[in-house]
Amino acid sequence: MKIGIIGAGNIGGTVAQHFVDAGHEVMISNSRGPETLTDLVDELGPNAQAGTVSEAADFGDIAMEAIPFSAYESLPADALSGKIVISAANYYPARDGMMDLAETHTDTIAEHLEDSRVVKAFNETYWETLRDGQRPDADLDDRLAIFLAGDDEEAKEVVAGLIKDIGFAPVDAGPLTEGGRHIEPGSPIYTEPMTASEARTRLAALQTTVAAYEHGYYDPSKEITVQELADELDMSEESLSEQLQQGSEQLISQYLE
Ligand SMILES: NC(=O)c1ccc[n+]([C@@H]2O[C@H](COP(=O)([O-])OP(=O)(O)OC[C@H]3O[C@@H](n4cnc5c(N)ncnc54)[C@H](OP(=O)(O)O)[C@@H]3O)[C@@H](O)[C@H]2O)c1
Repeated sequence: MKIGIIGAGNIGGTVAQHFVDAGHEVMISNSRGPETLTDLVDELGPNAQAGTVSEAADFGDIAMEAIPFSAYESLPADALSGKIVISAANYYPARDGMMDLAETHTDTIAEHLEDSRVVKAFNETYWETLRDGQRPDADLDDRLAIFLAGDDEEAKEVVAGLIKDIGFAPVDAGPLTEGGRHIEPGSPIYTEPMTASEARTRLAALQTTVAAYEHGYYDPSKEITVQELADELDMSEESLSEQLQQGSEQLISQYLE
């Protein structure tokens, strides 16, 4: 597959190396121009080349952005139109400055790339875990998880395939907004290295706890019983109680850390 990468730092460079090692063709770019990427391209190997940002955007059917969030409006929306765009950027106010955001960080980028098929991925794995954590010979359940979120199921399938190619396991967190908020800074599962089976268990507990909150379960005036909530969420009372306990534990320990 031909993949254009915008951003050649910790994340862009690390993911580029994995893609090249898995047999994909990569064009990598930064804001300063291809001539500043000669050493990186030599390291990446023969399946890599450097280009400008717009050349990288044009390069394949799939592109990835891994740039500072504060620069997201420089992403070339026209050149990325119709393409699958993997979005790895996270917003940190102290680093990026105060900005007006949509509901999640990636929703903000997706609004800018309104004609692209945006998939949020590689944003919640620390770059050194990404560099060293691949386990291509392990069963998928035992590999380290890489979460993804997006509204385009076919695009997510393609990105999930790339994640498998590089020795990790894709775990679908759901649509861009509802799923995306579970894998952004502030979530208990953000940057926590975990196997795919652990990732699915922890994600499900968080999703159920949020659903319980949205159904008014934590509002005493609504007097919703566990049985009523279990019926509403179409799950057994026992697994609902277990997930609420696990979800609350994750959220409270995150708050206390
Ligand atoms: N570090 C992590 O562990 C990690 C994990 C997950 C997600 N993320 C997110 O991924 C993004 C990148 O993080 P990083 O750690 O890889 O940062 P980094 O090492 O500082 O790399 C950023 C790269 O983006 C390039 N760049 C900056 N502005 C650009 C622009 N307008 N157009 C094109 N390229 C541009 C930089 O090169 P020039 O300055 O030369 O242009 C550099 O190659 C951030 O949003 C971060 O929150 C980071």
